[in-house]
Amino acid sequence: MLLKVNLLPRTIDESTDLAVVVDVLRASSTITTALQLGAKKVIPVSNVERAMKERSRSPEVVLMGERETMKIPGFDLGNSPVELSEAFVKGKEVVMTTTNGTVAALRSRRAKRVIVASFLNLESIARLIEREKGRVEIQCSGSDGEPSLEDTLLAGALVARLGIVGMNDSCWIAASLYGSVSSNLRDFIAENGVHAKKLLSLGFGEDVSFCAKINLYDLVPLWRNNGFVRG
Ligand code: MLT
Repeated sequence: MLLKVNLLPRTIDESTDLAVVVDVLRASSTITTALQLGAKKVIPVSNVERAMKERSRSPEVVLMGERETMKIPGFDLGNSPVELSEAFVKGKEVVMTTTNGTVAALRSRRAKRVIVASFLNLESIARLIEREKGRVEIQCSGSDGEPSLEDTLLAGALVARLGIVGMNDSCWIAASLYGSVSSNLRDFIAENGVHAKKLLSLGFGEDVSFCAKINLYDLVPLWRNNGFVRG
C-alpha cells in the first residue's frame, strides 16, 4: 500500500484506490454519528441552494449543516453530533452542507472508494485501510484554507496505528504530532486548535469533547452513488 496524507484537501482522481475523508470538528464526526443513529444516507452538497433543491425534490429529506459554525436558516439540524438523535435521522436521507468537510468529501468522490474517518470510528477505519493494497489518501479538510490540528492528529493516529512504509512527508508530520500529544488529545485540541477554540466560545464545548472520543462506534461511512451509507 502507498499511503499519503493531504493536510489540506485536493481534488482526488480515479488513480486513488481509497480516499479517507477527515473533518474531526465536526463534519466527519457528525456524518459517522448520523449513520450510527440509523440515517439511511448522508448526501453532501456544495451549497445551501442545492440542499434546498433536494428538499423540494423530496420533502422527507433532513437538511443538516452549518455556515460560520451555526445552523443554516431553514435547515432542520446544525452540524453538532451531540444534538443528533434517532428521532431526527433514523431511516432518513440527510442532505448536508458545511464549510470545509463536505467540500473535502466532494473533492474525494472520484476515488475508487471513499470513506469517512473520525476518532469515533478510528479502529474500524484502520482495519479497512489495512486491507487495501493500492493507493490510499487521507484527505484532511483543514479549516478555512489552513491545516487543522485535529485533522492532522487523526491522520497521525491512523499512520501510527498502521505503521506503513511508502509515505509522504505529511504522514511523518501527522504521526509525529500525534505521538507527542496522544495522551492528552482532547485538552490539546481544545486549548490550541483554532476551530476548537471557536466552537468553545460559541457554546459547542460538548462537541469538542465528543469528537475527541476514540472508538465509540464500529462503522465505516462508505460512498455509494451520491452519498455515504453505512458500509
Ligand atoms: C466544516 O465543515 O467546516 C466544519 O465541520 C465546521 C463545523 O464545525 O461545523
